Parts: sequence; C-alpha cells; structure tokens
Amino acid sequence: MSFLRNCWYMATWSSELEPAAPMARKFLDVPVVLFRDSDGVPHALLDRCPHRFAPLSKGVVNGDILTCNYHGLGFAGSGACASNPHGPVLRNMAVPSYAVHEAHRAIWIWMGDQDAADISLIPDFDVLEVAPDNAFSCGRIHSNGNYELFSDNLLDLTHADYLHANTVMGAQFATVEVKVKSTDDTVSIEYCFFDQEANILIKDLPGVPGRIDQRSHLSWHAPGHMILYIDFAPVGTNDLSNSLRFTNIHCVTPETATSTHYFFASSRNFLTDDAVANQKIAESRLALFENEDAPMIEAQQAQLGTRTLWELNPLSLKIDDAGVRARRILAAHIKEEQATSKNKDILQLV
Ligand code: FES
Ligand SMILES: [Fe+2]
Repeated sequence: MSFLRNCWYMATWSSELEPAAPMARKFLDVPVVLFRDSDGVPHALLDRCPHRFAPLSKGVVNGDILTCNYHGLGFAGSGACASNPHGPVLRNMAVPSYAVHEAHRAIWIWMGDQDAADISLIPDFDVLEVAPDNAFSCGRIHSNGNYELFSDNLLDLTHADYLHANTVMGAQFATVEVKVKSTDDTVSIEYCFFDQEANILIKDLPGVPGRIDQRSHLSWHAPGHMILYIDFAPVGTNDLSNSLRFTNIHCVTPETATSTHYFFASSRNFLTDDAVANQKIAESRLALFENEDAPMIEAQQAQLGTRTLWELNPLSLKIDDAGVRARRILAAHIKEEQATSKNKDILQLV
C-alpha cells in the first residue's frame, strides 16, 4: 500500500516515551525505534541494526547513545555510528534516521525526506499544550484496521446514532443536515442541534443543562489529523461562541495497510479543575473507542482483508460525502508525492 511520507504523523504521546527506554513502533510498514537522549530530546531510527539486523529497540540508552544489545554497536540520534567495540567507527555504519519533533504533548515523526521536515507543518494543536491537567486526557489504541477507516468513522458522525446508541444517544446526528466543506487539503463537517436532551456522556456533569443547543464541528486534514469541537449551551443561546466546549483531537497513524495507531485527546473549557469529572470523561471516551468504534473498524477490515474499500465497490450514501472528499485529497497527495524520484529513493531505503 502507498502512504504519504512527507508529512507529520503522531508517533507517540510524550508521556509514553520514557527516558532510557527505547520504544519499538512501526509506522507506514517501517520498523522504528524511538528514544530520548540525555537532554530528553526524542530521536527516531530504523529499528534494525545495520550489522546483523537486530532490533535496536532491544538495546540500551546510555547518555545520548543507543547501543545494540547484540554485539554492541552504538548509534547517536542522527543515526551515525558512535561506537564500535570491535574496530574503527566508519561512516557506512550509520542507520537511517527520521525527523521527529515534540509538540502539543506528543512526538511527531516525518517518514519522508528529512530535509523537507518543516515543523511549521505540525498540526496546530496548541489547545493540548495549554489545557490544565484536570481538563485533559489522552490515549492510544492499536487497532487492526486501516487508518482511512478511522477517518471515515469520524467524518460521518451519524454512526454514533447506531453504534453508540446506548452509550451516547440514538437518533441524533442523522436527524439534522450536515454541512460539509473542503479545500485542497482539508474537509470539515458541522452538525447543529437545537433543544435536545444532553447526551449520556455529558448529562450528569455538574453545570450541564438538561436540554441544550449543540454544535459539533470536525475538521480533517491530510494524512489523518482531526479536531472536533463540541459546543453546547442552554436552549435558546443564539451564539454558541462562548459556550461550554470540548476540544477533541484524533490522529490516525498507519502502522501497516491494515493496522493503525489511533491517538485521541480531549480538553474542555469548563470544570477545568475537576479531577473526578476529568477521569469520568476520559474513561467514557476510552470505553467508546475501545468497545465500539475500534471493534467495528476491525470487523470492517476483516471483511476487506487486504483489499481496499474501492476494490469492493461500496454502496455510496449521502453521509459518505466528507469521508470520500478526504480520501480523494489524500490519494491526490500520495500520487503527487510518488511522482518525484526523491521519494522513490526513500521507499527503497526500507
Ligand atoms: S546486530 Fe547490532 S551489533 Fe550486531
Ligand atoms: Fe464513534
């Protein structure tokens, strides 16, 4: 399967990568080892020692050097060999490295041309940075489903009426018109509800009115970064711009063609010092994704096998508009990227 390589993917939440503990994770079919140097700065290398191909993630970090645990070659974060207990250090002992950058409580990886890795292209998720600890939660699910199925899932929230009927609320999103907009790089959807019952996830939180007006707005951009604002206020509040707001982040990073690292986070502008509410929100969201979304996507993938969605000629419904636009944008970016020979060289590297 082809992936977009010259873009940032979320590799891990910052909290997952501990000092002196190399982490093995596969992105875009490439085995990668992530580790922090003595200053805590993250690095990413191909998880394959150039000597006899032992995974470097089984190695140990000493200071700034990751040492292979098979015969002791040591590598710097740049990929250059830094020590060889068996002879001289030569330039050709290097291991490929990938650009990484830590921002927004996460570590981002660029799997393409390092020279093109521009940190200004990291998604603008500042909201995660500034969220108070008691108004923030994040998580990750590894799932045996293609990453675009995850984007489809979020770009059509009518699935909540059925898949989450007992955990959120039935008959909600499908009852209103969705506004879909797109540009060359983004797709957004918006659903507005008036005078409806607060859903199960929020109705028992302190200060949440029983009946509300609500706007859910999600924007996607390639390859699979999404931000979902859920604004709600007492019925009759005409302007929702100063309302209660959840800001939810979803990032899908392909592990392989049929598996995904699904990252999610949530922050809010109310009950910002309520650790109990924070815990409750985090648990309900995780349960939703773990017990309902991910199993359904894995079941879809099981039906697809190694075939793409289009190969099975799916029925098209109006609700698929946003998801299809996102798939087209991503496909166009991949096609464009593959037209350049430089990226073909990168593909051959692994
Ligand atoms: S396999 Fe790494 S040093 Fe031999
Ligand atoms: Fe869902």
